Amino acid sequence: MNKKYYITTPIYYPSGSFHVGTCYCTLMADTIARYKRLRGYDVFFMTGTDEHGQKIKEKADKVGKTPKQYVDDFVKEAKSLWKDLGISYDKYMRTTDKDHEEAVQKIFKKLYDKGDIYLGSYEGLYCTPCESFWTETQAKDGKCPDCGRDLKVVKEESYFFKLSKYQDKLLKYYEEHPEFLEPLTRKNEMLKNFFEKGLEDLCVTRTTIDWGIKVPFDTKHVVYVWLDALTNYITGLGYLSEDDSNFKKYWPADLHLVGKEIFRFHSIIWPAILMALDLPLPNKIFGHGWLVVDGQKISKSFGNYKDPRIYINATSVDTLRYYLLREVTFGQDGNFSEELFVEKANSDLSNDLGNLVSRVTAMVEKYNNGIVNEKNAEFVEEYDKELIDCASSLLEKVEYKMDNLKINEAITEVFDVIRKANKYIDLSMPWVLSKEGNVKRLDNVLYNLVETIRIVTVALQAFMVEKPAKIFEQIGVEKELQEWDSGKTFGMLKVGTLVKKGENLFPRVENAKELFKVEEEPNEVLEEKEEYITIDELDKIKLKVGQIKAVERVENTDKLYKLTVDLGSEVRTIVSGLVKYYTEDELLNKQVVVVANLKPAKLRGIESQGMILAAGDDVVKLLVLDNNPGSLKNGSNIH
Ligand code: MSP
Repeated sequence: MNKKYYITTPIYYPSGSFHVGTCYCTLMADTIARYKRLRGYDVFFMTGTDEHGQKIKEKADKVGKTPKQYVDDFVKEAKSLWKDLGISYDKYMRTTDKDHEEAVQKIFKKLYDKGDIYLGSYEGLYCTPCESFWTETQAKDGKCPDCGRDLKVVKEESYFFKLSKYQDKLLKYYEEHPEFLEPLTRKNEMLKNFFEKGLEDLCVTRTTIDWGIKVPFDTKHVVYVWLDALTNYITGLGYLSEDDSNFKKYWPADLHLVGKEIFRFHSIIWPAILMALDLPLPNKIFGHGWLVVDGQKISKSFGNYKDPRIYINATSVDTLRYYLLREVTFGQDGNFSEELFVEKANSDLSNDLGNLVSRVTAMVEKYNNGIVNEKNAEFVEEYDKELIDCASSLLEKVEYKMDNLKINEAITEVFDVIRKANKYIDLSMPWVLSKEGNVKRLDNVLYNLVETIRIVTVALQAFMVEKPAKIFEQIGVEKELQEWDSGKTFGMLKVGTLVKKGENLFPRVENAKELFKVEEEPNEVLEEKEEYITIDELDKIKLKVGQIKAVERVENTDKLYKLTVDLGSEVRTIVSGLVKYYTEDELLNKQVVVVANLKPAKLRGIESQGMILAAGDDVVKLLVLDNNPGSLKNGSNIH
């Protein structure tokens, strides 16, 4: 019997479009799942959507849909994106599935009967976008400590889960199972932030919303979304349903992969619920970092995101996968830079991997009519051994790294061998061997190269989804020599293998700026309807007269100026995309309209503290207040 491996991603909120940041976790999980399958594990890989809660209701209302219509549309979009990214999930979990809803009700009742859920009343703060409860002390200046948005005061009758009861048990468990929470820095941070003050019981129902699962014995209460969502990891396997065979087979999970901001829910609340249900705990919860652009988390709300398909269509799905797997140190934040993306695509994929395959297949065709000939023991050089040793030990090295979740290091090992193989061509100079008629040495060299490509491609199957099959086809390798363990022995490649040069695997990426351009607004799943705002809302926007006192170009961009703007009582830095429309001199001293209370945001590493209003679609003109500045005082309010 194969060993089982159960791996999950978080279930996503259907709250907008996916971007490379949200895809990151699923891509990592997919890589681990593929790797485990290659190693012969019986893998169950689950992802899905977290479809209840106030936030979803509000989103659906905004676009004039019922919550169910809204989430159904989102799921279609999500599944299509996962297909484009080659995500090999075994189950797509939805919290609006009937089985899940029923199981959550049973879980709630079970915990209530046990005395671990009790009725009380809640008074405190709530962050709707994060669906999180906070105490006064946890809130930062009245704002959500996670996302910085406004908190609502909530006062209502609620059921509570006795989280405090599990505090000592949890701490003991962490201590006895040092591998349970990773990376260590995140575990320590969590222990410091939440255990030092002591755990409080958790409010697990809301009475003021209705888009959710009802408490079976008190239907004015709806189950708190996080309790609903976390249990998906067991209800998705059929826990407390008629068919719980998957639960029996796969639970406990081997790995829950989650982003760092939701690590605390998974490392405290989830294990406590499992303890209360007398169920074994997952083997590992890993909190990965964020993908950032110029230090800012990629996110819908920061507007710094693009549909990942822009990158896939411009290059290939394997190019995007490669970049994310290789460039982000797993566990830490990683920068997503289009410049680096292109650089890596051209150097590592086109030059190193693509060229290796095309050079070697071309040489076998040219010198040996496409046939891999037998090796000859007499025509061996010292440096052959180096390549052979490197290739033969590759899979074991990859195993070691992958088993320790060092994904970026694992793929680096593969590309080290690729680079070695290219060097081997330069050292052995097959074209000279052919010219000199040194046929036997040439046979050895070509065999070593094709066999190295085979082994490298066996490993690549964990990381890439399209190209490995294409490479195997070009080097004529049949199924059984594509299997993981076959890659551990150098020399399995059959004499007489027929090689056939094929299409260019990774054409160079040219003109990336054009390719990555977003034609319209990023692929919104749902078009937001135009809405009215109230006079009170309008009043929130503070417009002021500002005078541009200095203008500088922002480095490495052809769009942005860094402006120094005088607002009377203060001077602000504002980054604005005006390069195309105004020269530096034209801007100097202009009095313009400034949105003065816009939340600062970082653009290209510079904090922009406001926005300057402009008009026009193709040609943009500033709303200049007075071409002979002076009559209006800088900092005056605009009504
Ligand atoms: N619904 C909850 C999870 C419940 S799991 C029982 C949720 N959903 S989410 O859609 O907001 O986030 C899903 C995942 O996407 C999280 O792990 C989050 O960290 C991840 N990411 C969102 N933006 C990200 C980046 N910019 N970079 C990396 N991961 C990011 O939380």
